[in-house]
Amino acid sequence: MAREFNTVGVVGLGTMGAGIVEVFARNGIDVVAVEVDEGAVEKGRGVLQHSTDRAVSRGKLSEEDQAALHGRVRFSAAMDDLADCQLVVEAVPEHLDLKKEIFGKLDTIVGPDAILATNTSSLSVTEIAVATSNPKRVVGMHFFNPAPVLQFVEVISTVVTEDEVFEDVKALAQRLGKQPVVVGDKAGFIANALLFGYLNHAVSMYESRYATREDIDAAMKLGCGYPMGPLALMDLIGLDTAYEILDTMYKQGRDRLHAPSPIIKQMVSAGLKGRKSGRGFYTYAEPGSSTVV
Ligand code: 3HC
Repeated sequence: MAREFNTVGVVGLGTMGAGIVEVFARNGIDVVAVEVDEGAVEKGRGVLQHSTDRAVSRGKLSEEDQAALHGRVRFSAAMDDLADCQLVVEAVPEHLDLKKEIFGKLDTIVGPDAILATNTSSLSVTEIAVATSNPKRVVGMHFFNPAPVLQFVEVISTVVTEDEVFEDVKALAQRLGKQPVVVGDKAGFIANALLFGYLNHAVSMYESRYATREDIDAAMKLGCGYPMGPLALMDLIGLDTAYEILDTMYKQGRDRLHAPSPIIKQMVSAGLKGRKSGRGFYTYAEPGSSTVV
C-alpha cells in the first residue's frame, strides 16, 4: 500500500522551495518550511504570500482557502522541527557540499521510514544520497519553475533507491496534480539536459550582439510558440541557478553547448540574477516581480 504523506518538510525557501511549499499546502498537506535563519524564513514567507495573493486577486483562490493554505504551513529556522515529517524535500542552492551537509543532518533528524528528496536540477543524487546512512530512501524530486503552475515532476532514482520509495514519490506527485516521470541520475535528467543548451545558445547570441534580447525572445515565443523567450526564461529561472546547472552539466558531459556563456557569470557577479534581484536580461518593477519596466 502506498505510504501516506500528511506532513512533509521543505528545506530552503527560495523561488523553488517556496513554490514547492505552496504546492503541498494547496493539496491539503501540512508543511514544515525551514530556512537557515529568521531573515530567510521571512523572505520565504513573503514569496508564499505574494504568490497566493496573486491567486486571490485573479479569483483563483478564495480568501478562506488562502487562510487555510497558510494555516497548513509552519515556518521554522530549526531543522529539528522536521522530525515528524514523512518526506523532506531539500531545495537549497545548487552546491553539492551544502546539500550533502543538509542530508547528513536530515538523516539523524527524521524517522527511519521517512523519505529524503532533493530538488536538485543537475547535481548527482547518488552523491547526495551517500551522505546519509541509508541511501536507499533518497530520491530526486525535481519540480519546474513556477512549481505551482507547471504540472511535471522528474523523480530521480539512483542505483540504490528502493523501488517502493520512488513508487511512493510518484504517487505523491500525482496527488499534487503533476505528471511524474522516473529517470536515472544523469546531470540535467530529461528536461534540463534538453533545455539548457538552447538557453545558453540564446545567451551567446545576445552576448555577441547577433540580435537584441527582444528579438531573440520574440523569435521563440511568437515564431515557435514557446510560452516565453529564452532570455526571459533565464530571468525566471535565475542566472545564478542557471550558471550552476550549466557548469555542472559541462563538467559532466564536456559538451560545448553547456560551457556557460561568460556573460552569465559576469551578470551574477554584478548581482543581476534575474527576476529575483529585480534585474537580469530585463529590468523588473521590483525584486520578485514579473513586470518588465
Ligand atoms: N508563481 C506562481 N504562479 C504563477 C507564477 C509564479 N511565479 N507565474 C505565473 N503564475 C500563474 C499565474 O498566476 C496564472 O495562474 P492562473 O492561470 O491560475 O490565473 C498562470 O500562472 C499564468 O500566468 P500569466 O497569465 O501571468 O502568464 P503566462 O500565461 O505567460 O504564464 C508562465 C507564465 C507560467 C511562467 C509561462 O510563461 C511559462 O510556462 N513559461 C515557461 C516556464 C518554464 O519553462 N519553466 C521551466 C524552467 S526550467 C526549470 O524550472 C528547471 C529548474 O531546474 C531550473
